[in-house]
Amino acid sequence: MKILKFSSYEEMSAAAADIIAKQINVKGDSVLGLATGSTPVGMYKKLVEMNKSGLIDFSNIKTVNLDEYYPISPSNRQSYRYFMNDNLFDHVNIDKANTYVPNGEAEDPDAECENYEKIVKSLGTVDIQVLGIGQNGHIGFNEPEENLYLYTHKTALTENTIAANSRFFTEDEVIPTSALTMGMGTIFSAKKILLLINGKAKREVFKQLLSDRITTACPATLLKLHPNVIVLCDSEACGE
Ligand code: F6R
Repeated sequence: MKILKFSSYEEMSAAAADIIAKQINVKGDSVLGLATGSTPVGMYKKLVEMNKSGLIDFSNIKTVNLDEYYPISPSNRQSYRYFMNDNLFDHVNIDKANTYVPNGEAEDPDAECENYEKIVKSLGTVDIQVLGIGQNGHIGFNEPEENLYLYTHKTALTENTIAANSRFFTEDEVIPTSALTMGMGTIFSAKKILLLINGKAKREVFKQLLSDRITTACPATLLKLHPNVIVLCDSEACGE
């Protein structure tokens, strides 16, 4: 793993956007693996700016998202499809038909997961997969467990994740307790992985990432086995 430290969230976000922009400029039909949550918001903002000023072209880009709550309608403002449209897709020249997020209102979630895994494979290799990290070490929604899943699957969210995500919900909104997520194998099949970590709340999990241990109790530690991972962190997450 290569670790790059930045003094602020803004600098970290700008550096992440630069890496994505280079990828787009080298290969105009790249496949990007994308994440939601608070972490990549700054990076998406930069990418929108770059697209508006003509520095990057999304017209032939394809995207696959890591996960989606289940059950949830794509029109629900809490859904990850809504998040992606709102933070990126609605503001750049991407063809939305080339953007994939698991269907949170599929009648048969297992069939949807199988289908999503096929979609990811059909696009060819993901060129860069962007990841955030849960305070409990989850990536995508691969939560700490004795056994992790290889492929896209339906999962129950842990208490820790539900509590962490509750900050995005108003009192009258129901917080989902399940999700459809890429598996560890789906994530690991990407050529390059960009892991973004910011904020004090991630300091403990960042330490686990630096240790010489790998454990399914902290799924992100398995990233040490991937040959091409860049970790971008701000000083609040990585300390001195
Ligand atoms: C989101 C995702 C999650 C988040 C993680 C961190 O698509 O897969 O793993 O990256 O929960 O969330 P934030 O960035 O809100 O701290």
